Amino acid sequence: MSRLGVNIDHVATLRQQRGEHYPSMQRASELVFEAGAEQITIHLREDRRHIQDADVPIVHEVCRKFGKPLNLEMGCAPEIIKLACKQKPEWVCLVPEKREERTTEGGLALTDKAVFKRLSDAINELKQHTPQTKISLFIEAHAETIDASLKLPVHAVEIHTGDYAKDFLENKDLSKYLHLYQAAHKKIHAAGRGFHAGHGLTDQSVRPLVKLGIFEEYNIGHWIVCEAVFKGLGPVVRELRMICRGEA
Ligand code: PXP
Repeated sequence: MSRLGVNIDHVATLRQQRGEHYPSMQRASELVFEAGAEQITIHLREDRRHIQDADVPIVHEVCRKFGKPLNLEMGCAPEIIKLACKQKPEWVCLVPEKREERTTEGGLALTDKAVFKRLSDAINELKQHTPQTKISLFIEAHAETIDASLKLPVHAVEIHTGDYAKDFLENKDLSKYLHLYQAAHKKIHAAGRGFHAGHGLTDQSVRPLVKLGIFEEYNIGHWIVCEAVFKGLGPVVRELRMICRGEA
């Protein structure tokens, strides 16, 4: 059975958009675990567009209370590595990061020597200061990238499903992705490493992946927060209308 990691970055996006103190990340984290999620994922970006430094210990504390892991997604910027070494999350997922991108736009370019070296250094630093933290690499499922990932001492890979998810929404043929994922899983599984998936997934696009039965973990965020608007808008309006009418 696969695990669901819920990415709550976009709860923080709503807060940062107005510079308010709500919505509360603590309350969101508690709700996510009360609903059965197996992990919370947050991405501390260099530009701090959603998650802030102060959110990390607050969310981590809720994870500890529920006995569930915090998965901290991050780039390799030295100050972020330092923060992870201090916070000691259960998982770190190393991702590429460009300031101008709207969201993480692809996996790590592991076949690039400079990128490989930067990651290798970041992994060494994490292992030295927080040896209990497990590390995953956010990568594409291409054979060369999978082979390169096996040269790094990490516990898992998270396959970037962004392009797959886009093609799903456009009703395109998905077989090329499903074949790639199966071939990648064979190698990663044989090496005794975890095989995770994330980015752009919805309740529908995750189904063919679940059917494949090869992913141990899915990290899903944006769609969950979007769908929560529709599941939550009605009751909130009903309640506020009662208040406005002096009936509650
Ligand atoms: N996994 C990784 C590595 C990501 O960068 C993201 C986006 O922050 C996600 C999962 C979640 O993606 P989405 O919000 O599109 O579901």
